[in-house]
Amino acid sequence: MTDFDISRRGLLGVLAGAGAAAFAPKSWAAAAADWTLAVTNAPAEGYADSAMTRLHGRMPQGLRGQLYRNGPAWFRYGDDITGHWFDGDGMIQRYDLTSDGVRHSGRFVDTFKRRTEQAAGKIMMPGFGTPAAPGAPVSGPDDVNAANTSVMRVGDELWALWEGGSPYRVDPHSLETKGPQTFRDDLKGMAFLAHPKVEPSGRIWSAAFLGNRAWIWQLDPKGGLERGELVELPLAGYAHDWAVTERHLIFPMQPWVMDGLALPISENMKWKPELGLQILVVDKADFTKRRVYELPAAFYFHTGDAWEDADGTLHFDVCLTGTPEFGAKGGHDIVRGKFDRTAYAASELALVSLYPDGRAVSRPTGVTAEFPQTDRRRQGLRRDRVVHVHGETPGHPGARALALFDWKTGKRQTHDFGDAALVEEALFVPRGSGELDGWLVGTVLDLKARATQLHVFDAQHLDDGPVASWQGQHATPLGFHGTFAAT
Ligand SMILES: [Fe+2]
Repeated sequence: MTDFDISRRGLLGVLAGAGAAAFAPKSWAAAAADWTLAVTNAPAEGYADSAMTRLHGRMPQGLRGQLYRNGPAWFRYGDDITGHWFDGDGMIQRYDLTSDGVRHSGRFVDTFKRRTEQAAGKIMMPGFGTPAAPGAPVSGPDDVNAANTSVMRVGDELWALWEGGSPYRVDPHSLETKGPQTFRDDLKGMAFLAHPKVEPSGRIWSAAFLGNRAWIWQLDPKGGLERGELVELPLAGYAHDWAVTERHLIFPMQPWVMDGLALPISENMKWKPELGLQILVVDKADFTKRRVYELPAAFYFHTGDAWEDADGTLHFDVCLTGTPEFGAKGGHDIVRGKFDRTAYAASELALVSLYPDGRAVSRPTGVTAEFPQTDRRRQGLRRDRVVHVHGETPGHPGARALALFDWKTGKRQTHDFGDAALVEEALFVPRGSGELDGWLVGTVLDLKARATQLHVFDAQHLDDGPVASWQGQHATPLGFHGTFAAT
């Protein structure tokens, strides 16, 4: 365990990885395909630019741009294995969608952590589930920053996001690392969540969890600091994601509580279900205006988005599970080639509503879900639909399908990629102005083909299957989150 002062610098406390949720289990099945491709080291030099092979269909007119994705892609030096999936070194995958098809390249984020461990030839830095090796040169959060959870486009840069330290600035063309982003000298190293929220105006909100307080980031559309303030949290719980509406910030704080700010997280958090899931709501215009709602204890990695009714009722979609077992233990086992579906409950799509009279209600759907995505043009605004990965295959982790749920009608659409698929997050790319009028662009690690595929769907007709698909030259490790930059 490594302790160090985080005052002023943000937190190591909640560096959370990304959330691959507990895709849940049924049984060990017979010899599934080799799912450990998902947690195999990528080449140290990255993936050189190469054309993906078209499987079927054509690139739709109007769909042009780059899909960038981030995820852990380096896990071991020989038999020396990282303590947790969430601690692998971040790698940016770039998929360039043109009229001629898709090209792929990939490059590790050149972090201090990665440089140090590559030079030593061993795992050294502490993290979500990895203890520090003797002599680990740790003096602040960015020394252990894995930059492995998400990536966003800000101005002319990409920011590779973690959540226990700064965004790492990356060139969107070469994927060359420029270094950590500092918003203000006295805020150097302050954590920045891997799930920032972007208003329709372009304003960016993010946060850092510092035990029983959170630091709120308010940035202009180009990433400049507009405002930063601390708010008190109802408990020093864990949160990997959060939500915003037009007028409010919503922090669902789970009763996975820090027992001191120390690494690794997974060994220093305690599950205290008696505390419940406490949801802090803060007025964007005045952080002193706050309200706390409570639900029975539950765990989540990801929210969808939130919106607000005229009467002040707040709603957000969320993928809930019973306990933090996957975060605590599953990520340790997965990088060792072990996965037991019976050990972890699946996360399930639910709609949480917070009423003006103080009631909080969770409406579960019974649908397994993770990596929820929406029409991000409506972030914080009323909308009906959420897209997510879904389903499970006995014998290996991950989701096998992409699905869409409509809160207004209760109708679902699903596309099942089959037993050999590990389905990653799909992002919405707009075409027209209506909700989900556009495409879904997402990747799948196909264990049978031993290659990563890129699929394009018409977002309103997910049931019809992909309108076009390509297969790359490599099986890239399973990633977490990304962004699409239309051109
Ligand atoms: Fe995440």
